[in-house]
Amino acid sequence: MKVRRFKVGDEAALFKVFISAIHDIASRDYTLEQIAAWAPTDTAPEVWAGRMRGLRPFVVEVDGGIAGYADLQPSGYIDHFFVSGAYPRQGIGTLLMHRIHDEAKLLGIGELTADVSKTAEPFFLRHGFEVVARGGPILRGVVLENALMRKGLLQGA
Ligand SMILES: CC(C)(COP(=O)(O)OP(=O)(O)OC[C@H]1O[C@@H](n2cnc3c(N)ncnc32)[C@H](O)[C@@H]1OP(=O)(O)O)[C@@H](O)C(=O)NCCC(=O)NCCS
Repeated sequence: MKVRRFKVGDEAALFKVFISAIHDIASRDYTLEQIAAWAPTDTAPEVWAGRMRGLRPFVVEVDGGIAGYADLQPSGYIDHFFVSGAYPRQGIGTLLMHRIHDEAKLLGIGELTADVSKTAEPFFLRHGFEVVARGGPILRGVVLENALMRKGLLQGA
């Protein structure tokens, strides 16, 4: 297992991880209608590729393939955090979370925030985040319950 930066050419593999994480893992906490709205399988490849090039996530490689990815924006916001349904509870999310913490320290970021799914909430709690507010953003006409979570980072420690 190794963590590295996104590179051009990773886009299709990241799409597979995104779809698997939502359709195979998060589907236990959301309805079929919510899953379809959150992760449509017919997203245009060029639209997806543009999104990934904008996010520039960290990716975890396992046996030469990509098993998970997560980003850290300069504001401290984590936009995407997904592990493939083929690798659940094997520490891949934790590896990404540690990388994000290392990067935040390097950049002098004082707090991490994310809009977190019901599925990922226990994972974020485990990593020291707290719920700031519960919400229900509307995506493609469907409400998706989530929680804004934050974690303050002690700098200089
Ligand atoms: C949440 C997610 C990123 C976790 O990735 P992962 O690689 O399975 O996480 P790890 O193996 O590092 O888990 C570390 C710890 O987090 C907690 N955890 C992880 N998944 C959990 C779950 N489904 N339920 C309860 N606790 C969980 C556990 O404490 C776990 O330790 P343990 O396995 O020793 O008990 C992954 O399940 C995922 O992509 N989920 C679906 C998509 C999603 O909702 N993404 C987030 C959008 S904000």
